[in-house]
Amino acid sequence: MSSASSGTGASTVIDNIATLVTNDPSLGDGSRLGLVRDAAVVIEGDRVVWTGDSRKAPATDNRVDAGGRAVIPGFVDSHSHLVFAGDRTEEFNARMSGRAYSAGGIRTTVAATRAADDAELEANLTRHLAEALRQGTTTFETKSGYGLTVADESRALRIAARHTDEVTYLGAHIVSPDYAGDPAAYVELVTGEMLDACAPHARWIDVFCEKGAFDGDQARAILTAGKARGLHPRIHANQLSHGPGVQLAVELDAASADHCTHLTDADVDALANGATVATLLPGAEFSTRAQWPDARRLLDAGVTVALSTDCNPGSSYTSSVPFCIALAVRDMGMTPDEAVWSATAGGAAALRRTDVGRLAPGARADLAVLDAPSHVHLAYRPGVPLVTQVWRRGVREV
Ligand code: NIG
Ligand code: FE
Repeated sequence: MSSASSGTGASTVIDNIATLVTNDPSLGDGSRLGLVRDAAVVIEGDRVVWTGDSRKAPATDNRVDAGGRAVIPGFVDSHSHLVFAGDRTEEFNARMSGRAYSAGGIRTTVAATRAADDAELEANLTRHLAEALRQGTTTFETKSGYGLTVADESRALRIAARHTDEVTYLGAHIVSPDYAGDPAAYVELVTGEMLDACAPHARWIDVFCEKGAFDGDQARAILTAGKARGLHPRIHANQLSHGPGVQLAVELDAASADHCTHLTDADVDALANGATVATLLPGAEFSTRAQWPDARRLLDAGVTVALSTDCNPGSSYTSSVPFCIALAVRDMGMTPDEAVWSATAGGAAALRRTDVGRLAPGARADLAVLDAPSHVHLAYRPGVPLVTQVWRRGVREV
C-alpha cells in the first residue's frame, strides 16, 4: 500500500462510497469488478494511490464526502467518429419511417466535413467531448474517415490529436466518391500518400470491412501497410453482414474487432482464442433498427468484450455510455456487472491500456460518482442522468 502523504501533490480522499467498482479482483469482494462496499479512494496528483474500506483510509490533505453514492472508473469509450460537420437528421427520420440503413449515408457527412473549416471541426469535436465527459467518459478514441482526401484525413487526425492520444486513421471508411470507378486506386492512395501524411498523427489504423466498403483482401492490404508504418490495427468488422473482418482482425492481432453483429461459430472461436477484443456498439443497432449483437454468446465463449458508443452522425448519434450499458443489459444478454466492466476495463483492453478503466493504486484517477448506491443503477434506471461528478487525472471536471 502506498502512502497517501508521499509524493508531491496534495492528497484527497473521496470517502463514504456505498459501492466502489475497482475492476481489480484482488481488491474488494474478489469478483471481476473488485467491488468494495463502504469504500474510499485516495488520489494524489493524477493517480489513485489507495482504495479500500473507508474506515482504514490514510490521512489526506482534503476530503470529499460521496454521500453514500457509487463510484466507478471513468468510462473508456474506445470507438467514436467525432471529427465531422453537419448532421443526418433527415436520414435518421427516413430510416425510422422504414428506409433501411446503408453505409452510403457516410458520403453526406464527407461532403459537410470537407466544406467545414478547421475551427468548425474542432468546435464540434469539443462540444461532443464535453457532452461525453458529463456522462462519465474520461478516455476516448476517435477516428478520421469523413475526409477521404490526403489533406482532409490528415487535418482530422491533427485536430483529434489535440484532444486524445487514441487517434485512429480511417481513410478506408468508404471508397472516396472521387474514386468511385477505381477502388484499387483509392486503396493505393490510402496505403501510400495518405498513410504517409496520416501516420505521424495517429496510433491506430482502422478499415470498414463490409460489402459496399472494403473487402477482406483490401482490408488486409490496408492494415498491413499501416502496421509497417507503426500503426496498430482495429477493424469495423461484421457489422451489417457476415464477412472476413473478425478473422482478419485476429490474424493481424488487431486490438479490437468492432461491431461483431453477424458472427459464425468460427468467428467466435477465433476471438476466444486470440488477443483481439470484441467491441460491441449497441447505439448503432438501436439507431439503425438492426439485430443486436449477441454479447452472451461471446462472453460464454470466453471472449473479452468492450462496450462503446460508436458516436457518429449517421449510425449512432449518442455519446452516452450509460445508454449503451442499458441496451446491452436489456437486449444483448449482459449482466449489469458485465456491462459496466466492458464499458470501463473492456474499453481499456480494446485500447491496450492498463492505466485507465480501473481504480487501483497506480491507475489514473479517472472516475465517475453516480447519484445511486450502486453501478447496477446504470442499467436499472435507463435514461436517467446518474453521473453527478467526474474526476479526470485527479481533477474534478464535472
Ligand atoms: O461505425 N460502419 C461504419 N462506420 C460508422 C457509420 C458511419 C456513418 O454512418 O456515418 C459505424 O457505424
Ligand atoms: Fe464506427
